Amino acid sequence: MSTTSTARRLDVTGMVRVARERVVARIREAEVVAAALSAGRNVLLEGPPGTGKTTLLRALADGAGVPLVLVEGNAELTPTRLVGHHDASRVLVEDYRAENFVPGPLTRAMTEGAILYVEEFNRVPEETMNVLLGVLSEREMHVPRFGRVTARPTFRLVAAMNPFDAVGTARVTPALYDRSCRVAMGYQDEESELAVVTAATEGPADLVARAVRTVRITRDHSELRIGSSVRGAIDTVLIARELATVRGHEGIEDATGVDAALAALTGKVTLADGAARPVEDVVTDIWRRAGEELGKA
Ligand SMILES: Nc1ncnc2c1ncn2[C@@H]1O[C@H](COP(=O)(O)OP(=O)(O)OP(=O)(O)O)[C@@H](O)[C@H]1O
Ligand SMILES: [Mg+2]
Repeated sequence: MSTTSTARRLDVTGMVRVARERVVARIREAEVVAAALSAGRNVLLEGPPGTGKTTLLRALADGAGVPLVLVEGNAELTPTRLVGHHDASRVLVEDYRAENFVPGPLTRAMTEGAILYVEEFNRVPEETMNVLLGVLSEREMHVPRFGRVTARPTFRLVAAMNPFDAVGTARVTPALYDRSCRVAMGYQDEESELAVVTAATEGPADLVARAVRTVRITRDHSELRIGSSVRGAIDTVLIARELATVRGHEGIEDATGVDAALAALTGKVTLADGAARPVEDVVTDIWRRAGEELGKA
């Protein structure tokens, strides 16, 4: 007897169409991830924070017409949290029953035929990774005192990881890599980042340009170990505009830009080992340098 589910193809054209509508550039990545998912494969998305991994996945899931179940991966994501548990107070009265089982995200995703999207996957405890590994191999799992859960044909796993994460990506077993496809999402080019920040903030263009140039410099700066994602540029623009309003200024004065960049960026970047000065000084210099570079251009 075999009731094991097999994966069914997804609407790959619809997925890529919605991604083109909602995601800036990233067309190659959208096509490859959509193709892998449609072909019934699971995907490991590797990229630094803020590179559009979640944005892309939401668009692809909507385009395929399947739900997206999102889980934050961390050390507390035990197998029980992922799979589900029996409601303790009901168990006292009714004993263990299928009806008092509270499904966790994995069980929901399997039974709804959803894409299960686990962020920061490399932080997940090993026992939890092993549960997922079993599900990827069998497309079903046995839950004690609940029964067998079979994945609907559109169920997939997408795991996202940050290659700069101090936890490292080596925790992910070769068995899991072997059962998944890997797509790298690096930082986008300046033109795309300008479009991302413009879409998120609606300008003004000169402030967007300076904020984008600033975060790009942070990623390749000798005094910083980790630079800022595009989120830092979005935050700089939004804060600078509000600050200008509260200060009653027409445009963005220099001190306002610096204050916004400090608030937006000093917590997002990490100083290099042995850095000789405070992060505030480094960010202020980079903001100034971005202005000079753009002024000359
Ligand atoms: N290519 C893109 N198109 C549209 N918006 C983007 C793109 N890349 C990034 N963004 C915007 O930047 C922000 C961060 O994107 P997102 O949350 O998708 O990144 P992520 O890779 O999932 O980050 P993390 O690893 O931190 O979870 C969001 O506001 C998102 O709208
Ligand atoms: Mg994300």
